[in-house]
Formats: sequence, C-alpha cells, structure tokens
Amino acid sequence: MDHYSIALLPGDGIGVDVVREGRKVLETVCKLHGGLSLSFTEFDWSCEYFAKNGKMMPDNGLEILKDFDSIFLGAVGYPGVPDHVSLWGLLLPIRRQFEQYINLRPVKLLKGIQSPLAGKTAEDLNFLVVRENNEGEYSNMGGRMYEGTDLDMAIQNSVFTRKGVERVLRYAFDLARKQGKRKHVTAATKSNGINHTMPFWDEYVEKIGKEYPDITHNTVHIDALAAFFVSKPETMDVVVASNLFGDILTDLGAAIVGGLGIAPSANINPEKKYPSMFEPVHGSAPDIAGKGIANPLASIWCTSMMLDHLGQREAAAAIIDAMEDVLQEKEVLTPDMGGKATTEQVGDYICKKLRARLG
Ligand code: NAI
Ligand code: MG
Repeated sequence: MDHYSIALLPGDGIGVDVVREGRKVLETVCKLHGGLSLSFTEFDWSCEYFAKNGKMMPDNGLEILKDFDSIFLGAVGYPGVPDHVSLWGLLLPIRRQFEQYINLRPVKLLKGIQSPLAGKTAEDLNFLVVRENNEGEYSNMGGRMYEGTDLDMAIQNSVFTRKGVERVLRYAFDLARKQGKRKHVTAATKSNGINHTMPFWDEYVEKIGKEYPDITHNTVHIDALAAFFVSKPETMDVVVASNLFGDILTDLGAAIVGGLGIAPSANINPEKKYPSMFEPVHGSAPDIAGKGIANPLASIWCTSMMLDHLGQREAAAAIIDAMEDVLQEKEVLTPDMGGKATTEQVGDYICKKLRARLG
C-alpha cells in the first residue's frame, strides 16, 4: 500500500468549496484503487485567520507543512485584507521556502470543451507552460519613499540569478525531452525593452539549449508570444517564462482551453526535498463565493497532477478520464461552463464516473 499525507489549505472564498470536491475525488480514487491511501490534515489559514490572529498562518506554519508529502491549496485573498498581504503571508513563503521553483501549467483542451479559438482542436491546443516561481519580477527588493508628499515614489527590483534561471530552463528542456510532442522549447523574453535581466535570461537560454542538442528552441518577445497563443498555439510544446510573464501568459492559456474554472497548476520542488503544492490557477472569486456554483474542475484536475507527481500515474489518468466523461456529456456542469449544476453536484458526478471506470 502506498501512503501519502496531504495538507489541505482551502483558504478563502470558493477555495473552500473546490478543495472539498477535490478531496472527495481523492477519497473516491483511494477507495477504488486498493493500493493507494491518503491521509488529510486541514488547516484554516486564510484571510479569516488573519482577521483573528493578525497573520495568515502561525509562525511555525512552514515547519508544520514541511513533513507532508503534498499540499493541496484552494485560493487565498479576500476583500478586507490587501492582496499583497495575503499573498506574501502564505502562498509566496510556501513557494519560496519549499523551493517550489517550478510552476507547471498545462494548456490542454480536454475532450468535450469547445475552444473560443475557431477551428482549433485538441491536437492544436496541447502544451505545457513552465513558469519560474521563486524570483524574477516577484521579488521583495525595493521600497517606497517620500510617502504622503508630492515626491511619493516606489521602486521594485527584479531578481534573476544564474541558479534560478538555469534550473528552470533545465526543467523545461528536460520536460520537452520526456513529454514534448514537438521536442521544442519556446522561451518568453523582452530583451528589447528590459535591457539587463532579459538579455541575461536569453544568454542562459542559449547556454542551456546547447546541453540539449535533441531539443530545438527559440526565444520570442512576450508581446508577440501572447499573440501566438491565439494565432498559432499549435506551434507550442514547452513554453518557459519568468515569474510575471508566465503568470500573465497562463491566464491567456487558460482562456483558450475553457477558462479559469478548469485551469490547474502545480508548484513543484523537483528534488522532492520539500512538499510540492497543487492549486487551481483561479483565485477566491469573491463575486461568487458562498453561492455554491464555483467550478471544481480546476481543483479536481490539480488532484490528478498531485497523484502524477507522487508517482500514481494510473490514478492520475483516471481522474482526467472521468473529467472528460463529464465534459463530453455536458449534463452536469457549473454556470461558467454553460450548465446549471452546483459545485457539489459536479464533484459527485466525477466520483460517479470514477466508480463506473474503476469500480
Ligand atoms: P479570481 O480567479 O478569483 O476570479 C476572476 C473571475 O473568474 C471572477 O469573475 C470569478 O467569479 C471567476 N472564477 C474564478 N474561478 C472560478 C471557478 N472555479 N468557477 C467559476 N468562476 C470562477 O480572480 P480575482 O477576482 O482577480 O481575485 C480574487 C481574489 O483571489 C483576490 O484576493 C486575489 O488576490 C486572489 N487570488 C488568489 C490566487 C491564489 O490563491 N493562487 C490566484 C489569483 C487570485
Ligand atoms: Mg495569476
């Protein structure tokens, strides 16, 4: 029996609803599988926790999390707590301290979903975006000066290190070698306008590229690349980008394959020295929180990525199959996908499909 311990961080808003359905799916898979067991420990760290305790998690929060095999997160952030406070108080410390320097976001059109891009099929829309997750534009270097005067100013520095850039590039090239259909890496850049960090990034793309003679690569300016996601997504295989560029590109990536309600992501520590963290791309969606209509599919897709990372390939694939069953039937879907079902009904229906497939 393979056993894994999972820390649940539902967080705020719809995070709570979608993590509940994800857990349900994981429990169903375990029941049906026989050789797989998961234990769950839930933590209430969130903006509500912040309101009571003045911090997003306890001081020893990371110490508590570090011994789990994986972390499954919903979303954090809620009106009343500034977004930079909630992000820097929970999500970013986890990503950094646990060296989850890879943020992996598949852009894959599942069966049953119609892309808003006319004429593009599942064949065309199937690639992986590797976002650098620890440094780059999301750094806390900088500061504010002259606040409250007419000289008011702010400086935010980007940080690109050789270690940080080389490891994310190697991960992308390795991924193209292992999983790529086209054996190609596209690196996002902006070395025309950003004249220190981006030429540095490009230089390392060339250097690491030489270590992979079997993988082709090119660098594309981020603005053009955004357009190519729409005009010729079929040319993408593995896309690698800095923290900010990867963040923006992947919301666009999500939009061309069905929207935020379905887009998953994995924050990976490839060395497995620390737990990796799996979370939907979407946020806490205060506009629909408490209504029971959040789409749980992004979160459920995350459970598949988590099992895959833990080496449970078969169980991971079964979850995607069950999702595609539900998407193709189009009977039980949440309003963002044109349906009338609740979050819970979609979760239950996925479990039913899993039982039909694995039971
Ligand atoms: P959001 O992703 O929460 O919502 C954007 C839009 O998409 C909203 O109209 C929402 O209703 C819809 N949406 C999102 N997920 C959905 C789902 N599963 N089903 C149906 N509709 C869905 O982004 P927004 O509004 O920019 O941010 C809201 C809060 O979430 C903020 O506090 C933000 O900081 C936080 N946030 C947290 C993230 C995280 O924890 N990783 C990521 C993004 C935002
Ligand atoms: Mg984002």
